[in-house]
Amino acid sequence: MQSARVSRTHRAGPSSRPSSRPQRAVVVRVAAKVNVEQLKALKAELYNYINSRGCNPISVRLGWHDSGTYDKNVPDFPARGGANGSIRFKPEIDHDANKGLAIALAILNPIKKKYPDVSYADLFQMASATAIEAAGGPKIPMRYGRKDAKGPEECSPDGRLPGAAHPFADGSASPAQHLRRVFYRMGLNDQDIVVLSGGHTLGRARPERSGFGAEKTKYTDVGPGTSTASPSGSADRPTTPKPVGQLGTSWTVNWLEFDNSYFKEIKSKRDADLLVLPTDACIFEDDQFRPYAEKYAADQAAFFADYCVSHQKLSELGVEWEEGAPVTLD
Ligand code: HEM
Repeated sequence: MQSARVSRTHRAGPSSRPSSRPQRAVVVRVAAKVNVEQLKALKAELYNYINSRGCNPISVRLGWHDSGTYDKNVPDFPARGGANGSIRFKPEIDHDANKGLAIALAILNPIKKKYPDVSYADLFQMASATAIEAAGGPKIPMRYGRKDAKGPEECSPDGRLPGAAHPFADGSASPAQHLRRVFYRMGLNDQDIVVLSGGHTLGRARPERSGFGAEKTKYTDVGPGTSTASPSGSADRPTTPKPVGQLGTSWTVNWLEFDNSYFKEIKSKRDADLLVLPTDACIFEDDQFRPYAEKYAADQAAFFADYCVSHQKLSELGVEWEEGAPVTLD
């Protein structure tokens, strides 16, 4: 049996107090809270579900917005933020930066009920990494066994996630300065910033959520599965239902495929129907960011390899591990 659920038996030592009763062995069972069987079954279900519904992008954004609240200067868990599942509570889910992500919670909560031993923090990070893999991206070396924040009082404060354009809440003079302030606070570096920006190879921005993007474009109008935005047509990528609400603007043409097209499109800015946020543009404008951006535009394998490293870091920011964790699933 591969389960990491372990029971350990502690025997109480001899009592220092004299007792008239005969000594009894006290058995304490300590169950580690990492259930590898449930994690594996959850991953299989998420892979199929996310792919068949085309909710890869929102799953990635949920995981990133849970972990991206991390502040390395705050010592205590869960006040330091990070991948602790606190985004499932109000007020955090209602923060401006999280607009639209209640939809992701509504997708994942019913699935979570079937896997009670899995923490929300693990669920959100697993959904994100699995969504990337299922969209043709790399298999990220994920580890599991995250502890959860327990209630609304353990939510991260508002304002820790990055803004996309002027005016920046922290008073930054440029998008690059803002990204550095936010990502350095998480303990991440310039390369992490650039490679993780490649997450925008998936998905769209909508006016009704972030305020960015158009109501629709030629790449989002017909809906995934029937347009140029559809996956490449491989047999294991079923047609996905047309989304409701605004269709938004994507960063890439095939916005359900994880590849390096984000870097190519941001570099060339060739099509007004594709989104380039100021924080996207700056990865080719800033002297320290540009070499990484150029590398990923030219070399998808290099992008995938570096993406795995930075995404794993992102997925473990601020994490407090359960006893017996972290565990891997392979
Ligand atoms: C670098 C700073 C970042 C900024 C300023 C930023 C900003 C945004 C904005 C404004 C949206 C549009 C939301 C909407 O209207 O629905 C968005 C969506 C998205 N972001 Fe980011 N983001 C950043 C970094 C990241 C990172 C690090 C990842 C993942 C590794 C990521 C993944 C996504 C995805 C997948 C979507 C699409 C969501 C959907 O289609 O539902 N972003 N981001």
